[in-house]
Amino acid sequence: MEVSKSSLKCILFIAKFINSFYNSKINLNIFKGVILIILSIKNLDITFRTNAGNIHAIRGVNFDLPRGKTVALVGESGSGKSVTMKAVTGLLDSNCIINSGNIFYNFNGQTVDLLTFSKKDLRQKINGQQIAMVFQDPMTSLNPTMTIGAQIMEGMLLHKKISTSDAEKKAVELLNLVGIIDAEKRIKNYPHQLSGGMRQRVVIAIALSCEAKILICDEPTTALDVTIQAKILNLIKDIQSQMNLSVIYITHDLGVVAKVADFVNVMYAGKIIETGTVDEIFYDPRHPYTWGLLSAMPDLETDDDRLYSIPGSPPNLLHEPTGDAFAARNKFAMKIDEKAAPPMFKISETHYAATWLLHPDAPKIELPPELKARLERSRKAADL
Ligand SMILES: Nc1ncnc2c1ncn2[C@@H]1O[C@H](COP(=O)(O)OP(=O)(O)OP(=O)(O)O)[C@@H](O)[C@H]1O
Ligand SMILES: [Mg+2]
Repeated sequence: MEVSKSSLKCILFIAKFINSFYNSKINLNIFKGVILIILSIKNLDITFRTNAGNIHAIRGVNFDLPRGKTVALVGESGSGKSVTMKAVTGLLDSNCIINSGNIFYNFNGQTVDLLTFSKKDLRQKINGQQIAMVFQDPMTSLNPTMTIGAQIMEGMLLHKKISTSDAEKKAVELLNLVGIIDAEKRIKNYPHQLSGGMRQRVVIAIALSCEAKILICDEPTTALDVTIQAKILNLIKDIQSQMNLSVIYITHDLGVVAKVADFVNVMYAGKIIETGTVDEIFYDPRHPYTWGLLSAMPDLETDDDRLYSIPGSPPNLLHEPTGDAFAARNKFAMKIDEKAAPPMFKISETHYAATWLLHPDAPKIELPPELKARLERSRKAADL
């Protein structure tokens, strides 16, 4: 379909008009273009007080979750993925200090800053009902002394005006939705009577029971074997499209990210160091840390079974690095990396990376040849 210049201008004008109207109503730049942003984390900065000193765990994190999309947070252990999400749901440990930040949430058409909510308000108004979490180990979320039916019904009975028999019907429907066979019988089971995969399905059913708008999945399939993992990933994707859920998916596994994400945020030492669409991160990565993560993915297409791992380990945030936190592990590091942390350099409207290699004066660095060959192979496979 051909769109003339004048009609394109007209579409852009209408989009801008809707945007400014909506912004003026809710007094927040929560629309980006014409995509509705349901959650927006701005400049989140968190320290933990410990006997050894202060750990600056989250150092200015920014990201948006567009409605109905999946944003992945990926990075090595300790990079700050879980702490960032715990800040959203008020589950941070009591030794934390929130130095700065806003977590804007589109709450029934009104923009609220979740960081201004008390723990009690988060528990009563947000957690479960608006934003639900699914953790790695379903046993930590399930109560071993209650039947799974009672656990699915609990939130509905507490927060919704619903009779016990209707809540029970809804619990059976939810168990069917998450693929549990014989749901009528299964609701009477206790968690220990179910397999690990079934338990994780129950946790997802509980998360959906109060019709939450955002699902935060923190390594939900890490404890499961590969075939069950694939089924749970497909389940989350199906439910997401049926219910227009917005999903934040935390993982250290880029293979999983490729399957579930629309957008990817790569975290390192408490910062997002590269952000982009899934295609931008997988086919055109710009940060040497992202190159390392991609190179460390098992390659099923070649006979080479040597697993690459990024040399060294992340910095200890008890002693905050002065320059780029990745410099010590980066074979392309320059003098400036030791002195100053790089800003986010823009590559496209959706793609940014924090590496001095993107500075106009930096030497031109080619992708490592093995990674380049690998990305070309996967690009060709995707084009097929
Ligand atoms: N209560 C706490 N006290 C002190 N430090 C903490 C506390 N909670 C988290 N941290 C520190 O914050 C940093 C980020 O932790 P976080 O749990 O977010 O990592 P992660 O990216 O989720 O890692 P993983 O992949 O292992 O789950 C780590 O250095 C961790 O040790
Ligand atoms: Mg974690």
